Amino acid sequence: MDHFIAQLPKAELHLHLEGSFEPELMFAIARRNKVDIPYQSAAEVRAAYRFANLQDFLDIYYAGASVLLHEQDFYDLTHAYLKRVAADNVRHVEVFFDPQTHTSRGVPFATVIDGIWRALQDGEAEFGITSKLILSFLRHLPEEAAFETFKQAEPYLDRFVAVGLDSSEVGHPPAKFANVFAAARAAGLKIVVHAGEEGPPDYVWEALDVLKVDRIDHGNRSLEDPKLVERIVKDGLTLTVCPLSNLKLCVVEDLTQHPIKRMLELGLRATVNSDDPAFFGGYVGDNFRAIAAALPLTRADLVTLAANSFAGSFLSDEEKTKHIAAVYATY
Ligand code: ADE
Ligand code: ZN
Repeated sequence: MDHFIAQLPKAELHLHLEGSFEPELMFAIARRNKVDIPYQSAAEVRAAYRFANLQDFLDIYYAGASVLLHEQDFYDLTHAYLKRVAADNVRHVEVFFDPQTHTSRGVPFATVIDGIWRALQDGEAEFGITSKLILSFLRHLPEEAAFETFKQAEPYLDRFVAVGLDSSEVGHPPAKFANVFAAARAAGLKIVVHAGEEGPPDYVWEALDVLKVDRIDHGNRSLEDPKLVERIVKDGLTLTVCPLSNLKLCVVEDLTQHPIKRMLELGLRATVNSDDPAFFGGYVGDNFRAIAAALPLTRADLVTLAANSFAGSFLSDEEKTKHIAAVYATY
């Protein structure tokens, strides 16, 4: 099965670039930027990666990102991710970045976007991986802060395919951002939102009805509400599911309890993604292998998951058809 998984063409639709920051690169960048980090070694950093919930993780994730200062840092972060997933036969990525994590520390928006953008262009030439970029707002901050970020992004709107919503979910429902998402949609951007990771099914309903999402990130808790499942299936929306993230953030107790097979059985378009691979112990290939080991998934299920990753992307219909044909050709 591992060989079958390795050669499946894949798209990754739920990846936070700051969450792909491996401790070795964090040390290298901290050293060249002369920034202190409160650890002695990469092994010590990894040992600190034990989380009881989303907030535990976010506190460490934002601290790690604070060594990123210069355009080259954002370039190196993005390039390292693409290089790593090329080995998983990833053909297309749609990646998040959190500008507010950096602009709040005084790093100019242009520094962040220029470094990431250059690495994505070079990555396509070097690894043949196509990409789209998603600007994600931090939901623990006020909507005015999201509007301020959206204003800073205006000169670069042609570099984004979508806006997203991430960070601490509970207490920050999607409707808090109704106005800024309406503005993004009016500017021609797609909408994706983290919903139903820790938050209740009501938050997923709001993501659908108030923010009018094109895709749902996580969505696990949708399964608690059969009417919601019916609605997501009817609308043909994709869920970007992140199994190892769910395990590490205690969204599921054990991968044998993971709902991804049930999602497929219910007719939901589920996909497999890594979320924050440097923190959760695995890239997209590792996530496929972990669920294949824990759940009674067939080869046909794995093919469906890989095909869903292209079907649920923001590629053109023509590009989707080409990639999906390549997935089925492996079966
Ligand atoms: N930021 C990075 N990873 C996240 C996740 N899994 N949920 C919410 N915000 C995040
Ligand atoms: Zn996420």
